[in-house]
Amino acid sequence: IPVEPFDLVVFGATGDLARRKILPGLYRRFWAGQVTADSRIIGAARAALTEDAFRADVKAAIDEFVSADKRDAAMIDAFLARLHYVPIDAVGEAGWKPLKDMMRPGVVRAFYFSVAPALFGDLAQRLHSHGIADTGSRIVVEKPFGRDLASARALNAVLAQHFREDQIYRIDHYLGKETVQNLMAVRFANILFEPLWKSEYVDHVQITVAETVGVDGRGAYYDKSGAMRDMVQNHMMQLLCLIAMEPPYHFDPAAVRDEKLKVIRALDPVAPDDIVRGQYLAGAGQDSYVTHSQNPASRTESYIALKVHVSNWRWKGTPFYLRTGKRLRARESEIVVTFREPPHSIFDDTEGWRENVLVIRLQPNEGINLKVMIKEPGPGGMRLTQVPLDMSFAEALGEEGADIPDAYERLIMDVIRGNQTLFMRGDEVEAAWAWTDPIIQGWEARGDRPRGYDPGSSGPEDALMLMHRDGRRWREIRE
Ligand code: BG6
Repeated sequence: IPVEPFDLVVFGATGDLARRKILPGLYRRFWAGQVTADSRIIGAARAALTEDAFRADVKAAIDEFVSADKRDAAMIDAFLARLHYVPIDAVGEAGWKPLKDMMRPGVVRAFYFSVAPALFGDLAQRLHSHGIADTGSRIVVEKPFGRDLASARALNAVLAQHFREDQIYRIDHYLGKETVQNLMAVRFANILFEPLWKSEYVDHVQITVAETVGVDGRGAYYDKSGAMRDMVQNHMMQLLCLIAMEPPYHFDPAAVRDEKLKVIRALDPVAPDDIVRGQYLAGAGQDSYVTHSQNPASRTESYIALKVHVSNWRWKGTPFYLRTGKRLRARESEIVVTFREPPHSIFDDTEGWRENVLVIRLQPNEGINLKVMIKEPGPGGMRLTQVPLDMSFAEALGEEGADIPDAYERLIMDVIRGNQTLFMRGDEVEAAWAWTDPIIQGWEARGDRPRGYDPGSSGPEDALMLMHRDGRRWREIRE
């Protein structure tokens, strides 16, 4: 279904994110017929580019980042004709008048701040002082949304001077992933899982986001951030919320975000013993983290594992183990829900018995695997064995499942539709930092150093211990 016509201004249009994700994503939506021909995309950046030069850059980005089956020459030309460019000075007055003259009345106005957060205030203020933003305008901002509670509050305050909360779209691209949204469908569109979704029946939950990439090329940013700020405070927190939250009364922005916020507020502080940080070493012909970060004394973690407690009625007694890291054995994101034992066994075979496990694979090979017990075949008496009910979404959905829009495409279309359900609210981001800050301050005060781990491994040994000492184990990260 096409979205309403819009004027979308992309600040930072010559930057990496715009080139890799935003502009190719918009092209794909145009190709799919969702962006109508009366919509316009206006690139804005400091560079003194001509419109033709900007279009040529976008064409190159489409050639690089859009798959060949969607690169139709006539289609690309029609898309490029929707593009405009204005050189603009975010901290001065140059370019704002031409931008204002370009905006059309009567269409949705959206402004994508694909720039450093330090510029958010300047952009917001100038959009207002030049009369470019109206009361229906939307602004889109990216992570990192602050690096602690104080800076996140300051960003929220600066945006709030010029925009209402319902105009602000804070992107966490994990929420735009099809399978992350599927978490909600699986939980709340089935009767099967929800009655068991509580500590009475769930022994523990594991959330893994493993990556094979290192931080090469972005070491300077990453070294000031680390896995806790880069992945846990945002992406993993969102996964935890979707898994742990109460059923919202309706799938709408207020209801969903209220429930997520309650989960974040219910998180206990994390004990030092429940945190393992790691840093990848050199190996397999690849450089180490400290080489990539160009900081030989770096104590920044490229891996973190945490044991987290959600202190409420539903989850008292069910730990959530989170882990994420770079340069691990495989790229694999999944959520594993391990159920408890049945209250009483009627079978003599106690050796064959295993817990029921629900694995929700987020990427790659999205799908669901539910492990159930059955009788081992044959005449050997009642012996038990575990089998997987394994389903890959791509296989189950066939053609339909093959062409899933990328997270950014989905989210940008939601901005145009005016739907904030999959965006973070200001109070949610602040609550997440309020939980994160003391954890980071704690290890800084203790002078904690991350443990080295081998590239291609599943992280530091101590992270295994985090589970073993509770009589549990991580699901293996497999190649
Ligand atoms: C980004 C982080 O937000 O998410 C990166 O800054 C990380 O460090 C990336 O690699 C992971 O996203 P995805 O979509 O590849 O899982």
